[in-house]
Amino acid sequence: MRNLDHNTITDAVLARQAAAADPRFTRIMTSLVTHLHAFAREVQLTEEEWFKGIEFLTRCGHITDDKRQEFILLSDVLGLSMLTVAMNNDKPAGCTEATVFGPFHVEGAPHYELGGDIANGARGIPCLVRGTVRGIGGESVPGAHLDVWQSDEDGLYDVQHADIDHAQARGILHADSEGAYHFRSILAVPYAIPHDGPVGDLLKAAGRHPWRPAHLHFMVKAEGYETLITHVFRSNDPYLDSDAVFGVRQSLVADWALQPDGSYIVEYDLVLNPTTSKPTMPLRDGALD
Ligand code: BEZ
Ligand code: FE
Repeated sequence: MRNLDHNTITDAVLARQAAAADPRFTRIMTSLVTHLHAFAREVQLTEEEWFKGIEFLTRCGHITDDKRQEFILLSDVLGLSMLTVAMNNDKPAGCTEATVFGPFHVEGAPHYELGGDIANGARGIPCLVRGTVRGIGGESVPGAHLDVWQSDEDGLYDVQHADIDHAQARGILHADSEGAYHFRSILAVPYAIPHDGPVGDLLKAAGRHPWRPAHLHFMVKAEGYETLITHVFRSNDPYLDSDAVFGVRQSLVADWALQPDGSYIVEYDLVLNPTTSKPTMPLRDGALD
């Protein structure tokens, strides 16, 4: 195969990878190469522009480490994370909608009793969070496993503070026998996603801001139900309609009510989708703990 030109090179690449053993791999790579080549043709990509693209991706790699994941951030601001979530979490009406996972979840957060204060020293206005976990049929989900995390009043997660080496504003709880949960934390505030790197430069070049509306993250697991990864957003936030990562769903917006003592309360019921219609992976012993 010689003397390929801009008309014939796409088919040549596709033919070269057609013998891959995994048909799903072939499907994905065929589509990726086809669309990448079509993109380059459509914009008549210059060599100089593609080199800038390579430099951008290289910078994303250099700034990524175990605390900072620039490629997830890139996927988020391009709307690709939320597109993938939306395509893969098409639940029946009434179920709590899913949204982006984000880069700030940490495995192995501390466990709290119901009513515990997950702030654990994080700075912010005190806030009580409560609600129930139910199935789509209205049945309570006793003992549901709730993994929650949020930023502090500076808009930073614990892992973004160089001087904090323990979990703050994150924790794991179990709903009670009726599916009810409550815990103490701090008021969620809007925050800017990390924008001191290449993704920040991209946002600036596109005339976009880096802000996310105030929210609290939840990952909810229970035997017999699909895992739910979502956030609850604060009503009246100025960024609800321009979330930098396109994650807002109206059904996820709740009121954080100011109390006479200056603290806040938010109530949010979480509705899970049973796995009965789909084959389930058996849970490992302790997989929910
Ligand atoms: C977050 O909500 O934690 C988040 C999501 C996407 C990008 C950055 C942060
Ligand atoms: Fe967040």
